[in-house]
Amino acid sequence: MASLTGAWAQPAPSINSGGIVNAASSAPGAPVAPGSIASVYGNFLLSAPSWALGIPLPTNLGGLSLAFGAVEAPLLYASSGQVNLQIPWELAGQPPAVTATLAGQTSAPQTVNLAPFAPGIFSMNGQGTGPGAILDSSYHLVTASNPAAAGITVILIYCTGLGAVTNQPETGAAAPSNPLAVTITKPSVTIGSVPAQVLFSGLAPGSVGEYQVNALVPSNAPTGDAVQVILSIGSATSNAVEIAVQPPTPDQRADQLLTQMTQDQKIQLVYGAVGTATASTRGGAGWVPGIPQLGIPDLYLADGSVGVGNGVGPATALPSSIASAASWDVSEAYKYGSVIGAELRAYGMNVNLGGNVNLIGREPRDGRTFETKGEDPILAGKITAAHINAIQAQHVIGGIKHFALNDQETGRTTADVRIDERGMRESDLLAFEIGVKDSNVQSVMCSYNLVNDVYACENQHLLNDILKGDWQFPGFVMSDWGATHSTVAAALAGLDQEQPDNAFFGSLAQAVSSGQVPQSRLDDMVHRILRAMYATGLFDYPAAITPIDTTGDQAIAQDAEEQGAVLLKNAGGQLPLNAAAAKSIAIIGSHADVAVLSGGGSAQVTPTGGPALTEGFPCPPCWAQVIWDPSSPLQAIQAMAPNAAVQFDPGTNPATPAALAAASQMAIVFVSQWTSEGMDLPSLNFTDAIHSPPIDQDALVAAVAAANPHTIVVMENAGAQVMPWLGSVSAVLEAWFPGQRGGEAIANILFGAVNPSGKLPITFPASVNDLPRPVIATPPDSTTPFPVDCSEGFNVGYKWYDSQGLTPLFPFGFGLSYTTFSFSNVAVVNNPTSGNPNFQVTFKLTNTGYVAGAEVAQVYLAFPASTGEPPKRLVGWQKVFLQPGAAEQVTIEVDANDSSHPLSYWDVNSNAWLIAPGVYTVYLGNSSSSASLVTAGTLQIGS
Ligand code: BGC
Repeated sequence: MASLTGAWAQPAPSINSGGIVNAASSAPGAPVAPGSIASVYGNFLLSAPSWALGIPLPTNLGGLSLAFGAVEAPLLYASSGQVNLQIPWELAGQPPAVTATLAGQTSAPQTVNLAPFAPGIFSMNGQGTGPGAILDSSYHLVTASNPAAAGITVILIYCTGLGAVTNQPETGAAAPSNPLAVTITKPSVTIGSVPAQVLFSGLAPGSVGEYQVNALVPSNAPTGDAVQVILSIGSATSNAVEIAVQPPTPDQRADQLLTQMTQDQKIQLVYGAVGTATASTRGGAGWVPGIPQLGIPDLYLADGSVGVGNGVGPATALPSSIASAASWDVSEAYKYGSVIGAELRAYGMNVNLGGNVNLIGREPRDGRTFETKGEDPILAGKITAAHINAIQAQHVIGGIKHFALNDQETGRTTADVRIDERGMRESDLLAFEIGVKDSNVQSVMCSYNLVNDVYACENQHLLNDILKGDWQFPGFVMSDWGATHSTVAAALAGLDQEQPDNAFFGSLAQAVSSGQVPQSRLDDMVHRILRAMYATGLFDYPAAITPIDTTGDQAIAQDAEEQGAVLLKNAGGQLPLNAAAAKSIAIIGSHADVAVLSGGGSAQVTPTGGPALTEGFPCPPCWAQVIWDPSSPLQAIQAMAPNAAVQFDPGTNPATPAALAAASQMAIVFVSQWTSEGMDLPSLNFTDAIHSPPIDQDALVAAVAAANPHTIVVMENAGAQVMPWLGSVSAVLEAWFPGQRGGEAIANILFGAVNPSGKLPITFPASVNDLPRPVIATPPDSTTPFPVDCSEGFNVGYKWYDSQGLTPLFPFGFGLSYTTFSFSNVAVVNNPTSGNPNFQVTFKLTNTGYVAGAEVAQVYLAFPASTGEPPKRLVGWQKVFLQPGAAEQVTIEVDANDSSHPLSYWDVNSNAWLIAPGVYTVYLGNSSSSASLVTAGTLQIGS
């Protein structure tokens, strides 16, 4: 190969034909505008790239210059193949062709396509396509991981080619830091083809040739990760680049609205208006008038633990919440909640005061047991979350209450619950934690009582540290009715809304102006209330008052009862009853000819069709009416056994029902225990607070059972009961307060049309003496706080009885079926590791009987003794429906990261949930009783 030696002529620089392009859009042949940035491609013979070091820009980089006739261009960058320049402002019309000069040699000229405007938006790929150089007002790139919020975000579009600038801002708005450089002509912007409001157009601060256009993303802009942004100015249109747009978050919307509110408007939202001159038109327990000028709707508050309460209107009386928990089925619980949500919405109520998750295993005589979800924090938390999810899906703000440790009604406004941190974190508070985290609930009601000497509604530790701090609860805390005790202390501790009036928060404006409560705290209260309204769709889906779906909702009520009733005893296969063989049936007691009982207080539902009967206002609580729901067990039983003689005795005097029972083939005794908010039961026996003289139902059952061995007891009550007559009756069905389709559900179960599958969500102790506090702590007077010593801590319900070695009458998790099940091939898979924090219990479940049915497989965990945990904790379960003879391979997964902290204990030193190393034993079975459990395997955690 010949070598090139000797002198050779240095070639002249050259510019490619059509090599001058808009630096932002890069489109070949597209025009450029005076003042904008362009790129010129060619062969510039530079040995190394060179950058301009400051403003004003040089006209020579590395010896290279570019000229349009006599006008030299300011240069930003030059390399051997590309030069970036600013198109000189002086150019106009059809400018002279551009030439490049280096070392005395000049390129051939290339014509330039000049236009007054040549908008181009810079892009991340430098090609003018894909994601644009577009920032939000915090100077973060607007991408899928940082999307713009429709209607909220102002985007900063970095572009070029917008023509001349002036020091007379056309928009009147100041540029961010370069107020003199505003474009003479205002561009327009579309985002996803929707015109956007342009707030500023001018030079980007401190730059040459680069412009910035600020535009508000329209509220009706399309959403997605690739929404096109296009600029137009004059008749010129830019390239299309992309941003990500999402609907605004509730927090963003709340913040935006907050900026438009006056102090008076803010104050208006932080308390209820009950008792003021204005009045709610919709009834309910409370209301907060809205602010129509700002589009803020009224808040209408109604109870709803077991259906729509407060006499808002006739509504479906569901079975008790505790019956919903007894289904052990979160999808059933969701249906239950959907009835409450839909009916509240139909009545125009948009805040639900339901979600009672107080852990009544601590005090099973609690008059509100029927509203709760039982004694286990995990079961209670998960069932509550399902209710709330369903309610909020209907655009009704869900609530969870009463935060916290409101576990007895006796002296509830002055009871001072004394409990250690670990004890409450692993019991009552855990139920709330799960409910809050699994449901996105938007309101929490703080309770009447004190916790460790501080009223719950001004309890910094409960509200700020735990609820809003540890659990990151984003919604608002409202007080129980009259549970606020201060203005400044409550506001600072985390109370966001006083209910039902403004006895204390009426002074909040003054507390803010005097500096006792920071303005930021008031803004936070309002933000939380507004974000709750946005999060549940109160702005976007305004309430429309409609009739309730009586038929559909009552079908769910019946289903909930059929899934939640618990068969406690069935000696000799007494049940199901054989309709064809039934000749005569004695129905006894509890108005079973016409009605079923409901629980009283604020949760009381006025049933559709009206009460079957009412029986006054027992004292205590003296203000809650006894309401019997319209559903006749007798009629439903007669319908199941049309050929049987079905006769009724009211059971008020044991002699006549015993005679009827003796003359009948079988006797079904309905026993009932009315309970209500504002009272606790005097004992665990069936007592009678309604009648005078009281009916001795224990004596009634005993008399009937003595007269007829085929005695079946159906219990309509709130929770745990002792049954001195248990040994003498053949069957017992726990029907709870069964709701207004209770009679039909009970008949279906008694006759086997439905196979019972409910399991107790609360232990039935053998005796009141087995409770942590055999005698309920009572107040000395109506105002002085009195201690309720909860030194049992987290040992609530079965954990208490296990830890004390006490055998209950019926264990937590227990319930019979008309079929039988067997567990086989039981194994524990995986030891959890930090990378894989799950373990699974696998087994084969077989229906070994002759009818279809459901079993609730329950997984309990025994922790290493070093942790000091209760002997066992429920950590998972699954309800499985099986045809007779069918089998299913089941896997129950337990995830250490679940909101229920199934593998952790609360460590008081580090103030955190920790997993202790050691050996854990996993049990599987169909109740918490050791006799029903097998060891599924062990877990070795850590070394
Ligand atoms: C109850 C709450 C109820 C409120 C409004 C209070 O007495 O404790 O549970 O939500 O009244 O009816």
